[in-house]
Amino acid sequence: MRYILAEDYEEGSRKTADLIEGVIRENQKALLGLATGDTPRGTYKYLREDFFEGKVDFSEVRTINLDEYVGLPGNHCQSFAYFMHRELFSKVNIRPENIMLIDGEGDPEAEAERYDSFLKENTIDLQLLGIGENGHIGFNEPEAYFTANTHLTELAEGTIRANSRFFKDISEVPKRAVTMGVSGIINAKKIVMAAYGHKKAPAIKRLLCDDKIYPEFPCSILKACRDVTLITDRELYELIKDSCPADVCLVKSGP
Ligand code: PGA
Repeated sequence: MRYILAEDYEEGSRKTADLIEGVIRENQKALLGLATGDTPRGTYKYLREDFFEGKVDFSEVRTINLDEYVGLPGNHCQSFAYFMHRELFSKVNIRPENIMLIDGEGDPEAEAERYDSFLKENTIDLQLLGIGENGHIGFNEPEAYFTANTHLTELAEGTIRANSRFFKDISEVPKRAVTMGVSGIINAKKIVMAAYGHKKAPAIKRLLCDDKIYPEFPCSILKACRDVTLITDRELYELIKDSCPADVCLVKSGP
């Protein structure tokens, strides 16, 4: 796992955008696996700005998103489809037919099947990930087992609590989601995980310091992947650096 230490959220977002743009420069038809939430918001801002300045072209780029709440239509302001359109898709020249999103109002099983048949035929060039405080990736929540394929899942209580900040009331947070499974994620050619701030420090510390892979700590599966880049800010790094083995704290700054 490569570790990039950024000073702060802005720098981490800039470096993440640079990694994504590097992949697009190598392959204009790159398939990007995208995430939602506060973590990638800054990255999308830099992608928008760079597009505006003519530094990146999305005309051939394809995307697939990690997950979606069950029951929220795409035009609901808290759906992940809405987030993606607002933060990126409507601001760049990506073609609508090159965007794969889960329909939150669709039949979850049919949506999962549609995703998996696409993933069977297409390889994600770069998968962008945030991390839940409980170690979830996408909505692969801590369980006694990993689920390989795209599936319907119940959100963990902590995830509902964490995501309630985006809703008027916690009772409005959907309890179920459809998420890409771990197979879709770990088969990506490159994975870039970003984590910022003290709340994510315990999960990142465990990810870096414990060599074991547990479904109860879903991000630990990333240890089995060949090309993973972790980007954190200094606030998080300061909280983990003393307890992690020296070799995992070897910091490479710059992409
Ligand atoms: P966040 O969510 O980016 O809003 O912190 C990350 C996640 O829950 O995976």
